[in-house]
Amino acid sequence: MAILDIVFFPDPVLQKVCEPVDEVDDSIRQLVDDMVETMYDAPGIGLAAPQVGVTKRITVIDIQRSDEEGEEVQSDLHVFINPEIIEREGQITWEEGCLSIPGVYEKVKRAERVVVRALDRDGEPFEIEAEELLAVALQHEIDHLDGVLFLEHLSHLKRRLAIKKYKKLLAKAAEEDEDEDAQ
Ligand code: NI
Repeated sequence: MAILDIVFFPDPVLQKVCEPVDEVDDSIRQLVDDMVETMYDAPGIGLAAPQVGVTKRITVIDIQRSDEEGEEVQSDLHVFINPEIIEREGQITWEEGCLSIPGVYEKVKRAERVVVRALDRDGEPFEIEAEELLAVALQHEIDHLDGVLFLEHLSHLKRRLAIKKYKKLLAKAAEEDEDEDAQ
């Protein structure tokens, strides 16, 4: 397994509509395992393939593991290949963040409950009913597979402010890197 490089906004790969996986073979399983390791390392609760530069319809989610960093907590890992939302119900507002837009957290409205159909790591079809955080994470990650970032769910003004804040954070991080290099 390997930790992959996470792609950051505004990299254009994050706006691509991803291709379905034709066959869940060993190379796909390798990618899935690397994505899981990358997600835990970050740490994050979800990661979609375009976030590691691969435009395939794959996402991994574990809303348990990253609750307590470094502690042994129960894992609730889900692998979704070619996921599709087949039912959505209700509305919930959740503060979201994204490994590709570090430092930015904004409230987003989503369906409160979804039913998702997908293939698992063995290529077997399954369905899952999800509520609250898992439902939010699924919608966020499946959006990634369609090239949609959570910022696009914000009003124009809020999105502009969020991007401005993000660019400031990026500039600050670059400055700190330069300082480190100079030492
Ligand atoms: Ni994200």
